[in-house]
Amino acid sequence: MTTEHGNGGVSQSDSDRVVIFDTTLRDGEQCPGASMTFEEKLEVAELLDSMGVDIIEAGFPIASQGDFESVQEIARRSKTAVIAGLSRAAFKDIDRCGEAVKVAARPRIHTFISTSPIHMKHKLQMEPEAVLEAVIASVARARNHVEDVEWSAEDGTRTEFEFLCRCVEGAINAGATTINIPDTVGYTTPEEYTELFRKVRETVPNSDKAVFSVHCHNDLGMAVANSLAGLKGGARQIECTINGIGERAGNAALEEIVMAINTRRDVLPYTTGIDATMLTRASKLVAAVTSFPVQYNKAIVGRNAFAHESGIHQDGMLKHTQTYEIMTPESVGVKATSLVMGKHSGRHAFVEKLKELGYDLGDNAFQDAFKRFKDLADRKKHVYDEDIEALVDEGIGAAHD
Ligand code: KIV
Ligand code: ZN
Repeated sequence: MTTEHGNGGVSQSDSDRVVIFDTTLRDGEQCPGASMTFEEKLEVAELLDSMGVDIIEAGFPIASQGDFESVQEIARRSKTAVIAGLSRAAFKDIDRCGEAVKVAARPRIHTFISTSPIHMKHKLQMEPEAVLEAVIASVARARNHVEDVEWSAEDGTRTEFEFLCRCVEGAINAGATTINIPDTVGYTTPEEYTELFRKVRETVPNSDKAVFSVHCHNDLGMAVANSLAGLKGGARQIECTINGIGERAGNAALEEIVMAINTRRDVLPYTTGIDATMLTRASKLVAAVTSFPVQYNKAIVGRNAFAHESGIHQDGMLKHTQTYEIMTPESVGVKATSLVMGKHSGRHAFVEKLKELGYDLGDNAFQDAFKRFKDLADRKKHVYDEDIEALVDEGIGAAHD
């Protein structure tokens, strides 16, 4: 691939660099319970820009006046990132989108149409040849507004292969610089998605003129695995959201993709431009403005991601942190690992906790405190520092009575 259009200045000849396209403000915001106000969207966009996201999909300008205004304001304020707006294949959508993004230093129009038999027949009620014509006309229309045009084959993974290739070829000839093949309904598997990209790129004669993009939904819990598999087939742009928010079961989570690449470069030989130490901040901001909670055991940003309660794990962690952590909490912006004191905690963690709280107990006092801690932990779900201080102080008091 040789194109240098858009893509955060990343050239596709720079073959291991993966373009991160964040769609928290569009596909993420579209899901029930995740809507954001104008100001909240600006705040999220500013953070995404400063953490190194290459492309921010800021919204769907035809959807409402509010969406139009937020996309336009994000475009106006953008510093580094390319600002994209989404539009269907209709000219009025594309023109509205062009109007919203044109004030960006680096604008992109992202236009899409469904290409699968089920979508064409039941949703669009269009014949395949008419869809192909719409692909070409919509991309050409978008190119009248901006140089950087992305075209998506909605429901791409359930599209008939030969037709998909004809659409991709038509879109590139009409001027699309990025081709996205979404797994709109989260149906594909990693092996299948790798092969799809490999075969489309091999079959479409002008495929080297565009950057190929993955866009995966999480209906079967494989969005991140599928996205990474797409890279193996030659895709170099990943569309994702903070905390994986998005339609139904969500989109591929940005933080998981970035940390999978950072942690397993041996088998995922790619780089991104993301400052991973900002991932926790971004997760907290998006959770706060959407009121969409992050599950406790969510990879990378869940509150338990760097917390250990079992005695065996706490003992291992105190001996060497890599026994039970494959990345450091600091690398994603978390201050430190937490050893949570509970009924599963052992002596080693209790000794460390006492040291941290400033106690230096003799053997008898320690045995007594540890027994009382275990009794308390059996009765109480969470044992806080204050509980431990109280039980140690009580024990010391009783010894002096
Ligand atoms: O999931 C999808 O297919 C989409 C497209 C609009 C890119 O979100
Ligand atoms: Zn989507």
